[in-house]
Amino acid sequence: VKDPIRVVITGAAGQIAYSLIHQISSGDVFGKDQPIILHLLDITPMMGVLSGLVMEINDCSFPLIKDVVTTDSEQTAFTDVDVALFVGAMPRKEGMERKDLLTANVKIFKSQGLALEKFAKKTVKIIVVGNPANTNCFILAHYAQSIPRENFSCLTRLDHNRAKAQIASRLKVSPDAVKNVTIWGNHSSTQFPDVRSAKVTVNGVETAVFEAVKDDAWLKGDFVSTVQKRGAAVIAARKLSSAMSAAKAICDHMRDWWNGTKDNEWVSMGVISDGSYGVEKGLVFSYPVQIKNGSYSVVQGLAMDDWAQDLIEKTQKELVEEKNDAVKATSSE
Ligand code: NAI
Repeated sequence: VKDPIRVVITGAAGQIAYSLIHQISSGDVFGKDQPIILHLLDITPMMGVLSGLVMEINDCSFPLIKDVVTTDSEQTAFTDVDVALFVGAMPRKEGMERKDLLTANVKIFKSQGLALEKFAKKTVKIIVVGNPANTNCFILAHYAQSIPRENFSCLTRLDHNRAKAQIASRLKVSPDAVKNVTIWGNHSSTQFPDVRSAKVTVNGVETAVFEAVKDDAWLKGDFVSTVQKRGAAVIAARKLSSAMSAAKAICDHMRDWWNGTKDNEWVSMGVISDGSYGVEKGLVFSYPVQIKNGSYSVVQGLAMDDWAQDLIEKTQKELVEEKNDAVKATSSE
């Protein structure tokens, strides 16, 4: 019997967490033989909601759940955790500028970074989901210097899954017939969904997505903008942001990190840049990654052309600006 792992979910009273807790507790991410102790963090006014959530977790009778800790204390939340899912963030309120949102959120991530540094295991694997996800992850990592840089990541797997789904629906194949799409850069509308190296299996034959789709104008136009703006389209229709699909993407991201990617396949993860593809070192940038034995490596040597280079530049520029604003906001306290 394995020892339980401690998994903290921040923003545990929110809508993503509501979908996420079920998938994690049922063994979909860490395996059906891995016991789990859940740490659920939210702000003080949400403690009542969390107590109801615990009732529901108990009522699910998950055999893998050994204990549930609910708290509004960062110390309690992050002590000895093996996995940290940073879902909680301040939502955008009406009339709020992007910059105000960034300022409010990077302060949360500074405080949580300091707590992570003090209380978490040094082996903790981290995914930041709360927006602006890349820049929140940058701040978190900055204030948790004793945790290895490769343990930090942010979620761009939802964008990755959206890109796969768009191609699959265009070609009328199952999404798992599509592989090696890449999301480059920021989890925002400047992201670059790239299928130049992607492959699709149609009627048992694997071909390049560009060859199978036979419509370069769509692949370089509407496909890219649909994926870039998908989050906003969901909000417009649902009046709430993506939650079920976000939770599913968090699970895909962590499952692959935990168990590894398939041979000759890659996935997209926001990671601390090592300078690959000319991106500023230290930025949290989404890359194609392959994973083995719990460690990722950025896929090297993918072909670049002027069109792709230009899109990568754009998203990098936005991330540099966000980073500068975030550093200013956190150092002026
Ligand atoms: P939500 O508003 O339903 O839940 C957020 C929860 O975080 C609330 O319960 C709130 O009380 C809590 N929270 C706020 N400040 C906190 C703090 N300092 N510590 C702990 N908890 C805190 O939001 P939802 O829909 O669950 O989304 C969460 C975040 O994920 C948002 O920032 C959203 O923009 C982002 N998101 C990111 C995606 C990605 O692909 N990276 C996709 C979808 C959403």
